[in-house]
Order: sequence, then structure tokens, then C-alpha cells
Amino acid sequence: MSKINERILQNLLRSYEELAGQTIAIDGPAGAGKSTVAREVARRLGYLYLDTGAMYRALTVKVLREQVAFDDEATLAQLAARTAIELRPETDESGRVRVFLDGEDVTGIIRSPAVNQCVSLVSRSPSVRRVLAELQRQLARGGRVVVEGRDIASHVLPCADCKIFLTASLEVRARRRHADLATAGFAVTLESVIADLEHRDDIDSRREVAPLVQVEGAHLVDNSERPVSEVVEMVMEYCRKKG
Ligand code: DC
Repeated sequence: MSKINERILQNLLRSYEELAGQTIAIDGPAGAGKSTVAREVARRLGYLYLDTGAMYRALTVKVLREQVAFDDEATLAQLAARTAIELRPETDESGRVRVFLDGEDVTGIIRSPAVNQCVSLVSRSPSVRRVLAELQRQLARGGRVVVEGRDIASHVLPCADCKIFLTASLEVRARRRHADLATAGFAVTLESVIADLEHRDDIDSRREVAPLVQVEGAHLVDNSERPVSEVVEMVMEYCRKKG
């Protein structure tokens, strides 16, 4: 093996060893690019990738179907307790993990505008959060995991080895979400996406239980102008240093 190849191999092995066994939390507002970045970091490290937003979205599908009022805590608590939400690592055509609600594949539906509009109203319920946070802790228990959400570093896994707060300007986030929705076949205006993101950020940041916050010790990464590969590298580099 040439000296250069040997050095590359050694560097790769070293970074892999340094990152072995870490729990990486990536929080941030809607549309900041958390899924793309978290998924890629997990893929490179061979870690489990946990999309906690997908869990809140799946439960929202059931709340809408069963027409439960968003402020009916007792019924929401029962509903959350009797619902099976599963994330399977096999991906759909856009590279997202598959999400199952009581055995039904809801991967497509959970990204619909109807769910976008209601998910923050469901996820502000303390009962819903209690059930899903416990499930997330169980899934992350073994480490070697990248978990993305809003309250991962602050509530779900406050002992995470590496805490990232990923953000981007409202305009960039809205353009991304608009493009995602168009690709998925949902015709919505950019203005309505901006309004939806502002509304959700507002509810997610001001709710009483586990609001979206950048905790002390979390590393802020702005994803407005950079290519995904650069952001992934920044996250990996930061975790390498923390390891
Ligand atoms: O990341 P996302 O857009 O798929 O998340 C959907 C909603 O779920 C988001 O508006 C707030 C909620 N959520 C949450 O409250 N806590 C999490 N850990 C993840 C998502």
C-alpha cells in the first residue's frame, strides 16, 4: 500500500475508533436540514439514525384519523399508549427511513401538508411527549446513534456525547421544504410553507414541555449557505473532537 493510502486508511480508522459508541443529538427548527445531515452522519459512522419528528408525525396521522381534539389530554394519552410506531432502516425513494403506524406504512402521508399543519399541536401535548420520549430513550439506549429532533439534548438524552444545534434562515428552510413537498407531489405555495414554518417554530419554541432550545454546550451550525457535505464534515469534526 502506498504511504498516502496508508495514511488515509489510518486516519479513517482513527476517526472511526474515536467516534465509536457515541450518542449524537441534532436539534434545530423545522427545515434546517437535520434529516439529511443526521442521516448522512449516521451512514458514515454505521450508526442507527433516529428521526424523532417522524414519530410525532406518525402519531399525528392517527390523531387526525380518530378526530381527537388537540387539547384532549386524556384521550391523547390513551391514544399514544396504545399506538405502535416503528422506524425501519430501509429507505423510501427520497432516502428517508420507513415509518410504520400500527403496522401500516405511513412514510408518505406523514409529510403531507395536513400533517405539517397539525404536528406541532399534537407534539405540544405533555402525555404524547412522555410516551414518545420514553420510546426514543429505549431506542437510543445502546449508543452508536444519531438522534434528531427538537428536545434531544435538552430532555430526551441530556447526557448525549455530542450536541449539535443545526439552524438556517427562514427563507432557506422554506425553500427546502417547498422543494421537498413539490417532489412528493404536493402543490403548495412558498408563502404557505413560510407561514407553516413560522407557525410551527413558534409553537415548538413556546410550548410548556420540552420546547425547542439550543442548550448550553450545544455546538451551533448554520446550514444556510453551505453544501450538505460541508455541514456533515463540520458535525463529524466536532464529534471527533468531543470523542
Ligand atoms: O423534524 P420534523 O419537522 O419532522 O418534526 C415535526 C414536528 O414534530 C415538529 O414541528 C415538532 C415535533 N417534534 C418535537 O416536538 N420534538 C421532537 N423531538 C421532534 C419533533
